[in-house]
Amino acid sequence: MRELTVTSEHRPTVIVLAAGAGTRMKSSTPKVLHDVCGRSLVGHVLHAASAVEPERLVVVVRHQRDLVAAHIADIAPEAIIADQDEIPGTGRAVWCGLQALPDDLEGPVLVTAADTPLLDGDTLVGLMAAHEGNDITVLTTRVPDATGYGRIVRDEAGIISSIVEHRDATPEQLEIDEINSSMYVFDAGLLRTMLNGLGTDNAQGEMYLTDVISNAYKQGIPIGSYLGDPLCVEGVNDRVQLAALRSIMNRRLLEKAMRAGVTVEDPSSTWVEVGVTFEEDTLVRPGSYLTGSTSISTGAAVGPHVYLDSVHVGPGVDVSFAHHSHTSLKNDSSIKDGQS
Ligand code: UD1
Ligand code: MG
Repeated sequence: MRELTVTSEHRPTVIVLAAGAGTRMKSSTPKVLHDVCGRSLVGHVLHAASAVEPERLVVVVRHQRDLVAAHIADIAPEAIIADQDEIPGTGRAVWCGLQALPDDLEGPVLVTAADTPLLDGDTLVGLMAAHEGNDITVLTTRVPDATGYGRIVRDEAGIISSIVEHRDATPEQLEIDEINSSMYVFDAGLLRTMLNGLGTDNAQGEMYLTDVISNAYKQGIPIGSYLGDPLCVEGVNDRVQLAALRSIMNRRLLEKAMRAGVTVEDPSSTWVEVGVTFEEDTLVRPGSYLTGSTSISTGAAVGPHVYLDSVHVGPGVDVSFAHHSHTSLKNDSSIKDGQS
């Protein structure tokens, strides 16, 4: 079995595309700053990207750039902020990202969108491993409904020959269920050359990163692919998707907790965030909302109906609606035995 590790000579440059407008969120908060279980959308992507140990990390911004840049400085101070100019499109976004990097940049460049909160490190490590020996590798996935996505078009030999956007696709191409995730690895030098040759001749008048794929194919450059889990690459476009992905992530956090010795009586009414920790043999009753750095010590029980924000619950303590006049505790309070 191939070991999924990234060797230091292949540490990638990661470019995160966060310049898009996110209009369908109907929000004054930039889309990538919306929260899923205690971490922003872009925060989840950066967390996943850390698994490939980026040599350099670039985040491309434009829409509400000051808010996004301030957030990135806060959560990933090592990241380079690159500003996208007025030319729209994912291809231009990557081009602008490269402008913030050395002219003689070498090695793999991993490109990812910023709005996919369930993206995990294993997927990116797998993509990097699949890229060994390739010039370009596309992370693809299969979905039951490919509406809106770029379709992966393959030749008779099964090699990717182009990615066709939904709006530009023929009726036959619309039948394809393999889609582009918007995550790729490119050889740096090749990417630079190919981006310089991009135009805006498509339905949206944008500079499409996906045109790099068809141009490379025409030049006989081998293009690899790596099939990922559809949920990992699902992007948030509106608040319906935001809620759906939050619920999946919450369920995963609870499953991890349950496997580690936490009894969760009603996962469907229990909400936790990524920073919440539990010791073994703890009990979480229905309606518990645990956020921030809340920690639940061994033998403790919480709920029903409590909201604990960054609260330390000591060993054996029972925090419940019935026992407390305050059901909501905030700001680094600590509850020890005898107080409950
Ligand atoms: C893109 C892909 C499509 C893929 C889909 C996956 C292209 C042309 N299409 O389509 O093949 O199936 O993602 O979700 O690449 N962004 C910028 N600057 C821009 C435009 C976009 O930084 O000028 C960023 C967005 O913030 C986002 C990502 O790029 O993080 C994808 O952009 P989006 O507009 O969502 O592209 P799609 O039309 O969904
Ligand atoms: Mg999109």
